[in-house]
Amino acid sequence: MSLLDDDISKVLISKKDIAKRTLELGDEISRDYKDKDLVIIGILKGAFVFTSDLARSIPLRCSVDFLATSSYGSKGVKSSGEVKLLKGLSSSIDGKDVLITEDILDSGTTLNFVLNLLKKEKPASVNVCTLLNKPSRRKIDVPAKYVGFTIKDEFVVGYGLGYNGWYRNLPYVGVLRESIWQGGQ
Ligand code: IMP
Ligand code: MG
Repeated sequence: MSLLDDDISKVLISKKDIAKRTLELGDEISRDYKDKDLVIIGILKGAFVFTSDLARSIPLRCSVDFLATSSYGSKGVKSSGEVKLLKGLSSSIDGKDVLITEDILDSGTTLNFVLNLLKKEKPASVNVCTLLNKPSRRKIDVPAKYVGFTIKDEFVVGYGLGYNGWYRNLPYVGVLRESIWQGGQ
């Protein structure tokens, strides 16, 4: 059996630090959306863990939906730059206050695509909450109102973020050993 921890060269953000920051974000979002008609929209697959923890730290009546996008080849560590919608919304967001939850804001291509898509559905408002932000790689300027952690340019996995479909179930955010992804670009 292959153990996930063995493929990680460094723990970047611990399980404890993620939990603490998620609670802080939940508090801030709960204050901002107290009187709003909140719909949380997670972007699959990467945001599935963050969305479920963040939603449970927001004690407001709200709904949760998911979109699925894809812009990476199976072994890519760089975005292909072309985003595809793999799964759309299950309910209308007309007049709703939408909060998009994302695992990481990297080049900005994915969130820019999602923001343009959702704005066509006439929501009352749209904001972004991303667990991680990698500003050094930005190609498109995307406004993120809520950011968990800003990180430098390293390929990270865990807490929903994957490589080749793996490591999403790692309970912390870590840096993948170079030997694992070498040749995967
Ligand atoms: P962007 O379109 O370049 O902003 O990339 C956004 C998507 O690429 C994210 O939703 C992630 O799923 C994925 N991604 C970007 N950087 C990383 C990383 O360091 N590790 C794992 N996935 C990443
Ligand atoms: Mg993602």
